[in-house]
Amino acid sequence: MKRIIFILFGVLLYANGVDVLTPVKYDKQKAKLGKLLYFDTRLSADKKVSCASCHSFEEGGANHKQFSIGVFKRVDSPMNSPTVYNAVFNCWQFWNGRAKTLAEQAGMAIMDEKEMGMNPKKLEKVVNSIPEYKLMFKEIYNTDYISFANVCDAIAEFEKALVTLNSRFDRYLKGDKEALNSQEKRGYVLFKSYGCITCHNGKNFGGNSFQKLGIFAQYIKVPRGRDRYEVTHNPADKYVYKVPTLRNIALTAPYFHYGNVKTLEEAVLLMGKLNLGIKIPKKDIKDIVAFLKTLTGETPEILKE
Ligand code: HEC
Ligand code: HEC
Repeated sequence: MKRIIFILFGVLLYANGVDVLTPVKYDKQKAKLGKLLYFDTRLSADKKVSCASCHSFEEGGANHKQFSIGVFKRVDSPMNSPTVYNAVFNCWQFWNGRAKTLAEQAGMAIMDEKEMGMNPKKLEKVVNSIPEYKLMFKEIYNTDYISFANVCDAIAEFEKALVTLNSRFDRYLKGDKEALNSQEKRGYVLFKSYGCITCHNGKNFGGNSFQKLGIFAQYIKVPRGRDRYEVTHNPADKYVYKVPTLRNIALTAPYFHYGNVKTLEEAVLLMGKLNLGIKIPKKDIKDIVAFLKTLTGETPEILKE
């Protein structure tokens, strides 16, 4: 029964499908300022960590460690660092969606004791002591005192510019039938027919719903970490997470909230077993992985400036 409902649900969503990525409007000046802040280690308690330490653009807007390293070499467990690319399209931020906006999320990262270890007062003291920031905030926000909220606002504006346009798959969707080879096209068909698209859909191939890890079989290998239950305290939300984006997925190993899955092949195999109740044959896994690799987009303009 569960399976039938699931398939029906799939057919419904299938109609929604996936969408071409399009740019998001942002304020160029604020975004440039936000970029400086994003890379600035002075914003952390030990002056050694910035947003880029854990969300590096050489590593797909995330990083290749299972758990990132924050201030005072603290291990940022138990959650794997997600990509900041296209995060603007997520309906909520964090694996459990505890932040609604990018600005709110940025503030929480700055204050997290395993990430940047600051508090609003300390942060304001630091940025207000830097003449270059004083000048820029005066010019852009028309304020003599740089507030914590304005710092978060500028970082969020920068993140709006982190859209990775023109992946091969986007070109295919826009009508360039040659953009994918036959294996990748097969992979796309399988992605839809197996029902991956019931959860990974929309512009960002995810980011728009909360789903359980382990619908058909319980995944006992990993701790729940910060799941949706931590937000709602509803027992049904144990092991429930925001569906992660699959855009640029080839760049952001390791996978899953616990970062314990090392390859895309293993991730797809597990998704079949745990969330679709099927054993996907090896050949199909290869095709799906080939398709997923076409979701890598171009480096955003703001990173080239
Ligand atoms: C020490 C590592 C570390 C630092 C520093 C850090 N982050 Fe993160 N970031 C993470 C981890 C880990 C998560 C996931 C945590 C969770 O979901 O509970 C995350 C989540 C996010 C998300 C949510 C993405 C999504 O899909 O839900 C965004 C956006 C983000 N960080 C941006 C930032 C920004 C901006 C900064 C700087 C102000 C920053 N991060 C600093 C490790 C870090
Ligand atoms: C019922 C919803 C659902 C279905 C169906 C589903 N997924 Fe997922 N997928 C998720 C959730 C939730 C996660 C996050 C799990 C976690 O990290 O604990 C995830 C994670 C992933 C990841 C790892 C992403 C990352 O950044 O770590 C990949 C890759 C993936 N899915 C691909 C697929 C493929 C391919 C299919 C079809 C064979 C599929 N998924 C079917 C919900 C689903």
